[in-house]
Amino acid sequence: MYIVDLIEKKKNNKSLTKDEIKYIINSYVKDEIKDYQMSSLLMAICINGLSSEETFYLTEAMLESGNIIDLSSIKGIKVDKHSTGGVGDKTTLIIAPIVASLGVPIAKMSGRGLGYTGGTIDKLESIPGFNVNININDFIDQVKKINVCIGTTTKEVAPADKKIYALRDVTGTVSSMALIAASIMSKKLATGADKILLDVKYGKGALIKNVKEAIELAKLMVYIGNNHGKETKALITNMDIPLGNMIGNGLEVKEAIEILNGKGNKDLRDLCIVISTYMVSMSKNIDYITAQGEVLKSIRTKSAYNKFLELIKYQGGNLDLISISPNVFEVKTSKSGYINDIDALKIAEICQRLGSGRMYKEDDIDYGVGIEIIKNIGEYVNIGDVIAKVYIGNKTINYNEVIDAFIIEQEKKSKKPIIYGIVK
Ligand code: URA
Repeated sequence: MYIVDLIEKKKNNKSLTKDEIKYIINSYVKDEIKDYQMSSLLMAICINGLSSEETFYLTEAMLESGNIIDLSSIKGIKVDKHSTGGVGDKTTLIIAPIVASLGVPIAKMSGRGLGYTGGTIDKLESIPGFNVNININDFIDQVKKINVCIGTTTKEVAPADKKIYALRDVTGTVSSMALIAASIMSKKLATGADKILLDVKYGKGALIKNVKEAIELAKLMVYIGNNHGKETKALITNMDIPLGNMIGNGLEVKEAIEILNGKGNKDLRDLCIVISTYMVSMSKNIDYITAQGEVLKSIRTKSAYNKFLELIKYQGGNLDLISISPNVFEVKTSKSGYINDIDALKIAEICQRLGSGRMYKEDDIDYGVGIEIIKNIGEYVNIGDVIAKVYIGNKTINYNEVIDAFIIEQEKKSKKPIIYGIVK
């Protein structure tokens, strides 16, 4: 096989075979296919797409480029959860202890963030002492002992994805349904869970901007997971406004604690209850209503919160020392009316400028900075009311930008529901 012929084939909108896709991935990982050749092929894929079968074979080849983690020594059905990413998405910090407190084993490998705010691992690292670098034996051992562990993804998991993702990032080839689906699913399938629940986000603060494309991506990933022998479902959820009231690593840990104590933002709480319910229902093979009853009870009785405390303690974190900047600026509105929108993308960009996210993977982040939304969608505000608090580190921003992210109008508009639907 010759890579130039395969690039030509995709350029002419023809299908690649399983063997051709395998050859491409294996040769690229071994540096036998050069970055400029791979970039050209990725662009042809972006323009002409891949069929579901081609995407399945691409996922399989990327998955097989590394190790598949063997969780079979852990008793019970392991369900993994993955979000396509959004602003203020701290759901893993909440659902992992809920589900673990109900006897569902959670062996969660998460990543650091690249973009506006940190990933789950960055959020956890805002808790001083919390260890995320756990070797695979200790990782499995911890799940056997306390039913939950959250660690970083190892280098051996889908290495082809790491190499291809880095190239996509600098060649304008991130936004292809097939490439996104293969990237996510190769990593999910490599981390060894028995079943997978996906949270596909759409809206201003998400990778996918509209619901139609979110459904398309969800269907593709569900197809890949199910055809790989792992029951897979995908929630479609809204990300026009930030998820919850807090955006920024340490602040998001604080908000997770509120939700685990039955308080906090309703959208975030509702979403975490739905995700946890599906995970419990899939793991225990019980109906949704019974699973929901278990989830609500776990929150009500503080069983989930106690599991969170156990997890943090087990991995060495000290919650008394969470990084949250003491330097706070109160943003006041000069308008009265109903808050009809809060632009998730604008909030995310401001947070990144404050230092909460990375532009490049070697960048340091400031765990203590971020934004707390004080007045959220649907609330009425008077002139001079504090609508947000900005937690500042050593970078400056223009506070008017925070005001601009809030749309305040005389007439109250209805808000999109957080959950649009589910693809099974
Ligand atoms: N998240 C991933 O892991 N990969 C993508 O391609 C996009 C989002």
